Amino acid sequence: MIMMNFPSADLTGRAAIVTGSSKGIGFGMACALAHAGADIVVVSRNLKEGEQAAEEIRGLGRKAIAVSCDVTVPASIDAMVVKSLEAYGKIDVLVNNAGMNIRKASVDFSEAEWDTVVDTNLKGIFLVAQRVGREMIRQKSGKIINIASIFGMVGTPMLPLYCASKGGIVQLTKCLATEWAQHNVLVNAIGPAYIRTPMTEGWLTDKERLDYILSMTPMKRLGTLEDLAGPVVFLASDWSNYVTGHTLMVDGGWVAR
Ligand SMILES: NC(=O)c1ccc[n+]([C@@H]2O[C@H](COP(=O)([O-])OP(=O)(O)OC[C@H]3O[C@@H](n4cnc5c(N)ncnc54)[C@H](OP(=O)(O)O)[C@@H]3O)[C@@H](O)[C@H]2O)c1
Repeated sequence: MIMMNFPSADLTGRAAIVTGSSKGIGFGMACALAHAGADIVVVSRNLKEGEQAAEEIRGLGRKAIAVSCDVTVPASIDAMVVKSLEAYGKIDVLVNNAGMNIRKASVDFSEAEWDTVVDTNLKGIFLVAQRVGREMIRQKSGKIINIASIFGMVGTPMLPLYCASKGGIVQLTKCLATEWAQHNVLVNAIGPAYIRTPMTEGWLTDKERLDYILSMTPMKRLGTLEDLAGPVVFLASDWSNYVTGHTLMVDGGWVAR
């Protein structure tokens, strides 16, 4: 019989930065990583909300610190990475999740709105990956997980800047993966469909919109924070040690239609 050395999904002793983890999807993924054993850096601009999230994660029995950081500002990212290294001495996992959205007719967007959305969702993802990537290259290991969307794969009305930035994340993920594989730094993405969070809860109160979303979703339900737990732990752990450049859709089948 061939003996196989199966890896583990245990993240005990691993340090994970999760941007945008004071609430919503980022908080859910930070909890999932902590549940699997990881120590967490909670990143958001609002420190008070970040501290509350870190307190809840510590309740899971892991270490967690909160750091205020704006992912569009390089000096702020640098300070966040320095604090993370002071706390844990290394960075094993980066979940590049912070993002935002403006929804309106394409002809009505201003240039300033383009800058706000694309700077947060695409430039911010690159700047954080670049700064953390330098540490991971030095360490000769690391896992980066960028949060894209179904709207990085398919188009939809009223979301041109969001779709452009999320499509950019899918491509950026492939580029960094091909460049950093030689350093054992693996770069993947997750593409969720609609999940109730502070970003979407207002939008999802409208029955007509909800019906449309369900009509587009073969599984006929919204996603949940729990649905993202397995995918993020998989991509953060040794289970995915030969997976890089991939965008894992967690969408109830939306883009498979
Ligand atoms: N919810 C969905 O249905 C859905 C579906 C697909 C993809 N996504 C993606 O998942 C990610 C999280 O979405 P969500 O729904 O959880 O959003 P959310 O509830 O609005 O939470 C956004 C998080 O990002 C932080 N953030 C925003 N801008 C930031 C900046 N410039 N610097 C640092 N942190 C920043 C926020 O904290 P502060 O405001 O304090 O900075 C907050 O912690 C986004 O990338 C989004 O595009 C969401």
